[in-house]
Amino acid sequence: MGPNQGFGGTLCMIFLIALFASGSGENDRDFKMCGTWCHGNGLLTLAHDLKRGCGTITISANESSLSIRGEITAQCENSSVIKLGPSPEARESPFCVYWEPLLDQLWVEVNGQNHTLCWPSGLQENCCTDLSQGGNKGTAIYGILNATQRDDILSYQRRPAYEFFGGIVNCKNVFCDEASQGSGDKVNMIEETVMRSKVLGNVVLPCALSSVVEMKEGFQGYNIILPVPRGVPPQMIPSVHLPSCLKPPEKQKVKVVCTYFKIQYLIPGEF
Ligand SMILES: *[C@@H]1O[C@H](CO)[C@@H](O)[C@H](O)[C@H]1NC(C)=O
Ligand SMILES: *[C@@H]1O[C@H](CO)[C@@H](O)[C@H](O)[C@H]1NC(C)=O
Ligand SMILES: *[C@@H]1O[C@H](CO)[C@@H](O)[C@H](O)[C@H]1NC(C)=O
Ligand SMILES: *[C@@H]1O[C@H](CO)[C@@H](O)[C@H](O)[C@H]1NC(C)=O
Repeated sequence: MGPNQGFGGTLCMIFLIALFASGSGENDRDFKMCGTWCHGNGLLTLAHDLKRGCGTITISANESSLSIRGEITAQCENSSVIKLGPSPEARESPFCVYWEPLLDQLWVEVNGQNHTLCWPSGLQENCCTDLSQGGNKGTAIYGILNATQRDDILSYQRRPAYEFFGGIVNCKNVFCDEASQGSGDKVNMIEETVMRSKVLGNVVLPCALSSVVEMKEGFQGYNIILPVPRGVPPQMIPSVHLPSCLKPPEKQKVKVVCTYFKIQYLIPGEF
């Protein structure tokens, strides 16, 4: 971290520890496309081919396969075919495709089961988001019915494929703006996202500095010292001691995240 991160002067006095995280909030940068896959009565598969970049993602469906391909990820490259098993009797399977660019996470829910195609890999700086719909071609016997994007209907017709085009944004900045403007609990939003990003160690955001520590069996206590720019006087360097008793004995592993927030991102008195 360099001095231009701006933590020097406004080093914040707010310090919080969160022991666990849950849930996933929906944000403007995230993508959710759902529909009903009308298929045949044989074995079904979920095919995917994901590459790095920021171009097109195509979601298509035919008699036997639901397919996700394109270039939208920052880190993840993944391509394979997942066997979903036999078709439900109705020959219709509800599905959703979820994309969280800040975490580089992509997963598909089919018939109530989630399949992760890209696991979270830290908080991304530049990411592919604001996916807008491109051509949706023709109609078909098998395909995607009643497609929606973020709960807005795209079409009631049965279409073989949907295409979306992304654009690059600075995800960390957008995220901090959302956190500062959102009406919800800003502190939880930031800490939950840091937790879900699956990183250990330091996480630097324009609005906060976090450190994630994993407490395992036999945890002896730990001193967290957050990275600050050179020149910050020692008494101003944020540090905290995590005592060994912080780890709940019934849990094998527990993660703790300590966060310093830049003060102007939070309204005083909110918590
Ligand atoms: C269905 O789509 C999959 C994946 O795109 C493809 O491999 C397969 O050949 C297609 N099947 C038919 C019957 O078109
Ligand atoms: C699949 O993921 C979605 C979105 O995060 C979530 O709402 C849903 O509960 C998950 N489904 C299952 C079966 O875990
Ligand atoms: C790639 O996708 C498969 C599911 O087909 C998943 O099990 C695996 O964890 C994914 N790999 C990465 C690196 O995300
Ligand atoms: C598709 O949408 C129409 C119109 O809302 C509805 O009547 C129909 O039940 C839906 N079909 C499925 C399979 O979701």
